[in-house]
Formats: sequence, C-alpha cells, structure tokens
Amino acid sequence: MTDYSALPDFSVKGLHALITGGTGGIGGAFAKAFVANGATVSVTDVKPPATPLPAGVDFIELDVRDDAACAALPRRVPKLDVLIHCAGRLDRDREWQIDGFKDIVDIHLFGAMRLATAFRPQLKASKGCVIHIGSVYSYFGAPHLPAYTAAKTAIVGLTRSLAHGFAEDGIRVNAIAPGWINTEISKRGRENPEFNAKVMARLPIKRWADPMELAGTALFLSSPAGRLINGVTIPVDGGYGAT
Ligand SMILES: NC(=O)c1ccc[n+]([C@@H]2O[C@H](COP(=O)([O-])OP(=O)(O)OC[C@H]3O[C@@H](n4cnc5c(N)ncnc54)[C@H](O)[C@@H]3O)[C@@H](O)[C@H]2O)c1
Repeated sequence: MTDYSALPDFSVKGLHALITGGTGGIGGAFAKAFVANGATVSVTDVKPPATPLPAGVDFIELDVRDDAACAALPRRVPKLDVLIHCAGRLDRDREWQIDGFKDIVDIHLFGAMRLATAFRPQLKASKGCVIHIGSVYSYFGAPHLPAYTAAKTAIVGLTRSLAHGFAEDGIRVNAIAPGWINTEISKRGRENPEFNAKVMARLPIKRWADPMELAGTALFLSSPAGRLINGVTIPVDGGYGAT
C-alpha cells in the first residue's frame, strides 16, 4: 500500500525517459540531468548528437512529423516512465505562409499528440508521466511567429485535456513554459540587439538562462514528489510572466 503521508521523494532513479529533440539545448540538458540522477534515457531527434552521448543514453532518429514512425517507436522503447516532447523549431520567414504554418504546428502540437497517444500503453503500465514544452509564447502573441505562438498556446490546452483523459490510466500530463533560454532556437533573437534589449527590459533576472536551469522542474514533475501535479503548465521564465 502506498503511504501518501511519507516524506517527499524527489528521485528519478531507475526510471526510463524518452526525450524528443533530445540532441538540442533543452532536451540535451534534460538527458544529462536524468542520467546524473540515476535514470536511463532515449533521445530522439532529426539530427544525430554532435558529441558522444553519456552512458545510459541511446539515440533514435525520429522526425516527430512522421505519423508512422511515431506510432512504431514504442516497439523500440518497450518500457517508458517519462515522455518529454522537446522537439521544436520556429520559422520567422515562413509562418505567415500556410505551408510554413502547418509545418511548425505539426512539430510542436501534432508531435505532442502523436507521441502521447503512441506511448499511452507503456505509460499506463508504469503509471508514468508526460511533460510538454510550452513557452512564454503560450501566453502572448509575436508578430513573426503566428504558428509557433498558436502551437505553444494549444500545448496548454492539450496538456489539460490529456491530463483528464489519461488520468483513468494513472498517467499525469504537465507542461513547462520556459522563458528566454540560451539555445539554437533562440539564437536569431538573442543576437538581434533591438530584440534582445526589448526582452531584457522586461525580464526581471536580466539574463538568458542556461537550459540546465529548467531540468530541476522536469525532474520534480517526474518524481514521486510531483505526483499530485496534473494538467498544469509551469512557467520557468525568470519572472518574465510576472511583469
Ligand atoms: N530556447 C528558448 O528560449 C525556448 C523558450 C521557450 C520554449 N522553448 C522550447 O523548448 C523546446 C526545445 O528547444 P531548444 O531551446 O532546446 O532548441 P534547440 O534548437 O536547441 O533544440 C530543438 C531540437 O528539436 C529538433 N527538431 C526540430 N524539428 C524536429 C522534428 N521535426 N522532429 C524531431 N526533432 C526536431 C532539432 O533538431 C533540435 O535538436 C522547443 O519546443 C522550443 O520551442 C525554447
């Protein structure tokens, strides 16, 4: 019998996590953090890792826009405790064109849905959890990013609905909404002096964050200590949303 009054347990030891976009900045930091805390990890991405992966991490090539590949993936990852959808891209030059719009929404939103439904049986067996990645753009618009903003806002709703729907299987579904993180996806904005100044003027901590600064929230949500948290999107944004 589970003793629900026991002291909180923040361990992810022995869990297996799958991280899409796992050779990217945030996914890569999550993979390192999970392994350092005793978990094993499968990272998936469209591009192979640039540097050798640490022990306990394996790589599977996956484009999250591919229905069949997502549906088939559980055959290669038979046991899963934590599913984290980190794959992502934005495209300032194409998001006002319908093809570009569809492509970005496909990766962030449809990708999340494809993987959560594909891995539902594994997550049911482990009483595991799903973590989506939202954004500060889950809460406000951006003139060059209509698709990215729409997808990130929809992730909040998908997270709520999946949390309801999967609860009967003992699966929790949450999201993390990062602020301004120093990775490839944010490089163009970060290196634009005008854009950077606008962000810094509003951002209380006045700096771009390291991807590892998000990992504590992912570990917490995946651990027994996070077991009452379900259906929420947690801003981890240095206070940006508070201003
Ligand atoms: N960096 C930030 O400031 C920031 C802020 C808020 C949210 N996010 C979100 O965090 C997540 C991770 O982004 P990041 O900052 O690590 O960026 P990143 O560019 O370092 O990593 C993204 C990864 O996704 C992969 N990817 C792109 N398209 C894919 C596809 N079709 N299939 C599979 N993989 C694909 C890329 O190859 C890359 O490795 C994304 O969802 C992003 O929108 C980032």
